[in-house]
Amino acid sequence: MKFLNQHAIITGGSSGIGKATAKLLAQQGANISIIARDRAKLDLAKQEIETVRVNSNQQVLALVADVAKQSENKAAIRTAIEQLGNPDILITSAGMAYPGYFADIPLEIFEQTMAVNYLGSLYSTRAVLPAMETKQKGHIVLISSGAGLIGLYGYSAYSPSKFALRGLAESLRGELKTKGIKVSIVYPPDTDTPQLVQENKTKPLETKKITASAETWTAEGVAQAIVRGIEQKIFAIAPGWEMNILHRWHSLLTPLLNWYFDRLVSQVGQKNSKLS
Ligand SMILES: NC(=O)c1ccc[n+]([C@@H]2O[C@H](COP(=O)([O-])OP(=O)(O)OC[C@H]3O[C@@H](n4cnc5c(N)ncnc54)[C@H](OP(=O)(O)O)[C@@H]3O)[C@@H](O)[C@H]2O)c1
Repeated sequence: MKFLNQHAIITGGSSGIGKATAKLLAQQGANISIIARDRAKLDLAKQEIETVRVNSNQQVLALVADVAKQSENKAAIRTAIEQLGNPDILITSAGMAYPGYFADIPLEIFEQTMAVNYLGSLYSTRAVLPAMETKQKGHIVLISSGAGLIGLYGYSAYSPSKFALRGLAESLRGELKTKGIKVSIVYPPDTDTPQLVQENKTKPLETKKITASAETWTAEGVAQAIVRGIEQKIFAIAPGWEMNILHRWHSLLTPLLNWYFDRLVSQVGQKNSKLS
């Protein structure tokens, strides 16, 4: 059991990718702290994680906090450390996505997306750092997205927050390595979770067309890639061949992808003008 007696703190651990990762780590002996806003969802997730524990001494802690509020984020992590000890792993999976046409997305959504996805991860990282520095070990895993590698039509609020995480991970990697702390950045593909269901409600037709051909993963599949990435100390965890190619070649591929996406967008435009 690779994670026996380790302590993993997972923001957004009450749902989707965060919860699936929490369960996999619990199956390998880890103690788990999950952080999210909704108490009822947290309690259900805690029960689910407890059912897959490998021994009854393993602890699962469910803490309410809005990660975008620095004081709440810090307090939750302080409680997790007080109760379950210094963290070995931090996974920042708490996130939100609100696709739409740029001019239609309320400015508050741009601010909130940056606050939850980017600042929320940053605050959690700062909060675990002193404990990890004391132990001179630890692994910080930031969850970005394929939309953190290329800007996508309809994702003008979301993509920048995920690009920011990539910048943070790349800047921190070398700096924290000198302190014995590893950093990873994850680029999940479309994954069947409540977030994706929510996204599909506001996704422009053009965005649907662009993302239609991409394979949709299960949260469990992405969680397996994350846990494997942690075990193998991989910096950039890109589940599946599509994300792998995108991660390695995105700068070269962007002109080709833009040409292809623009064609898809113009097809939607033509269809709409025929209908009107
Ligand atoms: N699903 C995809 O297709 C996909 C693709 C690429 C990347 N991602 C990224 O993967 C991560 C996990 O997404 P998911 O698809 O697993 O979504 P999900 O199932 O909707 O889970 C999101 C989690 O984040 C929590 N959360 C949201 N806002 C929060 C806040 N302000 N403070 C604390 N917790 C908050 C939610 O709980 P509460 O609502 O109770 O707070 C929930 O536990 C996100 O960062 C997302 O951007 C997802």
